[in-house]
Amino acid sequence: MKVGVAGCGLMGAGIVEVCLKTGHETVVREINDECLERGLARLDKSMEYAVKKGKLTDAEREAARSRLIPTTDLGAFSDCDIVIEAITENREWKSTLWKEIAQHVKPDALLATNTSSIPLSSIAPSTGNPSRFMGLHFMNPVPVMKLVEIVQGIETSDETIAEGRAFVEGLGKTTILAKDTPGFVINVILVPYLCDAVRLLEAGVATKEDIDAGMKLGCGMPMGPITLLDFVGLDTTLSISQVLFEEFGDPRYAAPPLLRRMVESGFMGKKCGRGFYDYTGGGK
Ligand code: CAA
Repeated sequence: MKVGVAGCGLMGAGIVEVCLKTGHETVVREINDECLERGLARLDKSMEYAVKKGKLTDAEREAARSRLIPTTDLGAFSDCDIVIEAITENREWKSTLWKEIAQHVKPDALLATNTSSIPLSSIAPSTGNPSRFMGLHFMNPVPVMKLVEIVQGIETSDETIAEGRAFVEGLGKTTILAKDTPGFVINVILVPYLCDAVRLLEAGVATKEDIDAGMKLGCGMPMGPITLLDFVGLDTTLSISQVLFEEFGDPRYAAPPLLRRMVESGFMGKKCGRGFYDYTGGGK
């Protein structure tokens, strides 16, 4: 299958990487040359790391890279069998982009959004083909995490879900299926957990290091919640919590003031060098 990916940020680059590595010719589209170059650098760095870790040979990396079609032109999606949108978690931006994508894709192409919380039904009309539209929620880091959460919108056909599942399994991932509710399965559980960790920090109950050590060593989490927040992105977590709070009105989803202040001050997490921890020296 020929794949189109809109957005080459943290998630988009990871999705492109797994598609390339599993043999798919993949178009990646960014809004301008600067964003495209940054995204490709991210992709190359990750594949370099995979080679260093012995997960990929040099020859496999070269073959994967040769399947990549980088572009700033949405018209390049015209012969793609599936288009996956992986841009910033913003309902208006996603809807606007889908209206543009709809003008270029094949009528039978599979259409997927990597949204982590926004209800599909609020974006679906913009795609012009809601029965072919589904959620494919990849986890970060995409090349490593084994799960993709598939989301079935009100109008998504069963055939679309079956084709989406087959595609994702071909990428070597395991799937779970969720109905179209805000946050689906993963983030309804994960985001309150992350927000609770910030609330503990805010209340001065424990240091960030101790909160992280508590969950990592005490509960076997691969990384503590404050580190995970930096990893996922503070802005992304804030956006998700806002969607959940707006939809459910439940205080456990409300963003802690400290999270808001961090985002307003430009502490977005690892991707920008500073979050709750400092990454400017390369390490944490
Ligand atoms: N390609 C292929 N393999 C890679 C890779 C890459 N680019 N990068 C890392 N790996 C492999 C490594 O080779 C290693 O494999 P082995 O165990 O076989 O040696 C494994 O992945 C772990 O990598 P590292 O040793 O480099 O790093 P680590 O042990 O410190 O683990 C981590 C890093 C995988 C990120 C781990 O800390 C972890 O799982 N953290 C939790 C991540 C998480 O919860 N993600 C979900 C976030 S929620 C989300 O994404 C949804 C949302 O909407 C918010």
